[in-house]
Amino acid sequence: MCGIVAYVGHQPAREILVEGLKRLEYRGYDSSGIAILNDRPYLTKAVGKVAALEQRVWKDNPEGSVGIAHTRWATHGKPTEPNAHPHVDCTGQIYLVHNGIIENYLPLKKRLMAAGHRFCSETDSEVLAHLVEEAYQGNLEAAVQRALQQVQGTYGIAVIHRAHPQEIMLARRGSPIVLGVGKEESLAASDISALAQHTDQVVYLEDNEVARIGPGRFSITTLENRPVSRGTTLLEIGPESMERGSFPHFMLKEIFEQPEAVENALRGRINHAEGVAKLGGLESVFDRLQQARHLIIVSCGTSYYAGLYGRYVFEALTDLTVETELASEFRYRKLNLRQNTVVLAISQSGETADTLAALREAKRKGALVLGLVNVVGSSIARETHAGVYCHAGIEVGVASTKSFTSQMTILVLMALLVGRGRDLSYEEGMSIIHGLEKVPDDMRAILAQSDQIRKLAEKYCAAQHFLYIGRKYQYPIALEGALKLKEIAYLHAEGYAAGEMKHGPIALIDPAFPTMAIAPEDGSYEKVISNIQEIRAREGHIVAVTSRGNTTLGSLVDDIIEIPRNHEILTPLLSVLPLQLFAYHCAVLRGCDVDKPRNLAKSVTVE
Ligand code: F6R
Repeated sequence: MCGIVAYVGHQPAREILVEGLKRLEYRGYDSSGIAILNDRPYLTKAVGKVAALEQRVWKDNPEGSVGIAHTRWATHGKPTEPNAHPHVDCTGQIYLVHNGIIENYLPLKKRLMAAGHRFCSETDSEVLAHLVEEAYQGNLEAAVQRALQQVQGTYGIAVIHRAHPQEIMLARRGSPIVLGVGKEESLAASDISALAQHTDQVVYLEDNEVARIGPGRFSITTLENRPVSRGTTLLEIGPESMERGSFPHFMLKEIFEQPEAVENALRGRINHAEGVAKLGGLESVFDRLQQARHLIIVSCGTSYYAGLYGRYVFEALTDLTVETELASEFRYRKLNLRQNTVVLAISQSGETADTLAALREAKRKGALVLGLVNVVGSSIARETHAGVYCHAGIEVGVASTKSFTSQMTILVLMALLVGRGRDLSYEEGMSIIHGLEKVPDDMRAILAQSDQIRKLAEKYCAAQHFLYIGRKYQYPIALEGALKLKEIAYLHAEGYAAGEMKHGPIALIDPAFPTMAIAPEDGSYEKVISNIQEIRAREGHIVAVTSRGNTTLGSLVDDIIEIPRNHEILTPLLSVLPLQLFAYHCAVLRGCDVDKPRNLAKSVTVE
C-alpha cells in the first residue's frame, strides 16, 4: 500500500528518491515525504500526489546523497503533512519511514509519552522513531533491533541517523523490503519497480531481518543480531517494463499485453505428447497433489474471481471437490480441514495481507498450501509449500487485468495436470491444450475492436448503474466486469449469476439501468437467452458479449460485441477483454484517473 525508497551513494539522492516514489505511486498515494541527510538535514512532506512533493523538492533543491522517502496510504490518521512520513524522533537525529501496522502502538505510545517523548502525528508509525531513539546508544543497528523487539504487527522500515551519514537501516516483518546493490551505491525499496532503473542485483529481506546498507555494500542480521549470509539475485525485470510506451495509460497497455502474458504463462508448460501440463513449481509436491481430494482456493478481489473461475475448471477437469473462499473470511473461519485438502492462494502482488494470513492458517492446520503468484520472491510465493508463477510482468495499473487472465490460464494448466493424473482422457486434455494455444490470437482479435467498444462506452457511460450477468464459467467474468467498472469508472455495477437475477436485482431494471450480458454460444447459452428476455420485457437496454457469427441475439439486444469461438472452458479468457476495455473507456470518458483510482492501492498489505 505505502511505498518506501532509500538511497545511499555518490549521486544526489533527491532525483533518485523522487523518481522512485513516482514508480511506487501506484501502490498508494494520499501523501508523501522525503528526508535527506546533510549538515542540515532536509525534510519535506506533501499531501496528495507525488507531483506535489516533487515541486517542493525541485524548488528547495536539497544537497545530500543519503535519504529515505515514502508514499502513504492512510490507515491511522488522515492524509495530512504531520501524518506523512518520514517521522522524526525528539532529538531531530532519526528519520524513519514505515509500511505496515504497529498493532501495539497505543500502549507503546502511552509509555513513551510518559517517559517524555513528544509526538507530532496520529500515526502508529511514529512510535518506531521514538523507540529507536530510546534504544540508541551509539549503534544504530542495535537500536533498530531492540526497538523492533518490542513491536507487534507488521513493518517494512527504513531509518537514517545524522550520526551515521553513510548508512541506512532497513527491516521487515510482513511488509516487503528489497535491497538493490550497485557500484558505490545501494538502494532499498518496498517494491522492485523503484530499483530496476538502477541495478539488476537485488536481495530480498526476510521477516525479522535487519539490513544495513552503505555505498555498494550491505549486511544482514536477525532481530537477535545473528549474522545472515545471503548473496544478491539477478533481477529479471528490466526498467522498460515500467514504461507506458505509446499507451496513454498503464491499464490500456496491460490490457493489450494479455496475448503475450498468456503466451508467457504457457511457455514451456505443455507436454503435447501426453496431453498434459508441465509445472516445474509443483513437481516437489506432485505425489501429495495426486492424493488430494479437496481443493480450497483463497484470494481477494480480482484474484478471488480468478479462483471462482478455477473452481468451475477444476470441477470440470478433475474429481476434486472445490471451494473458493475470500481470504478475509477464510482466515477467521473455524477451519475443519479434511484430510488430503490442498489450499491454493492466488495473488498478483504476493503481499495481500488477508491472503497471507489465510495461507498461514491453512499451513498451521496441516494442509498442503500452493501459491499462484505474479510477483517473484513475494511473501506468498516464499511462504507456500510450492507454486506456479504467472510471469505476466509488472502490473502497474491498480486495476488488475493481465494478471487475471494469466491466473486463469495457469488454473487451467493446474487442473489439466491434476485431471490427466486421474480420469481426464488424452483427447480431452489435447482439446484444452489446442484451445489454450489459440487464446492469444483470439485475444488479439478482440483487442482490435477497442474503438468499437469505446463507441459503446460513449453510448452508455452516462448511466449511473449497470448489471453484469453470466452463467457458469461466465459468472466470475460478470463479477470481474462489474468490479472493473466500479473501481476505475466509479460507476455502480452489480455482477450477478444470470439465473439469480430474478430473485431480486431484476427489480432494478428500467431503461436507465443497462445490462452487460455475457452470452457466448456455450452450454448455458439458452438459459442466458431466457434471462436476456426477462430484462427486455422490462425495457432494460442490453449489450451482449457473444460468439462470433451469432445469428440469434441481434434482435434481442441493443448492441453486440463478438468474441472468437473457443473451447467452452476457455471462453472466459476472451469474454473478459471487452469488459476491461468497456470499463477503461468509460473511465477515460468520465475523466477518472484510470491508473490510480481513488482510495485504492495496488498491494493491500493491511487487513
Ligand atoms: C482489482 C484488484 C484487486 C486485487 C486484490 C487482490 O482490480 O486489483 O481487487 O485483485 O486486491 O490483490 P492480489 O492479487 O495482489 O492479492
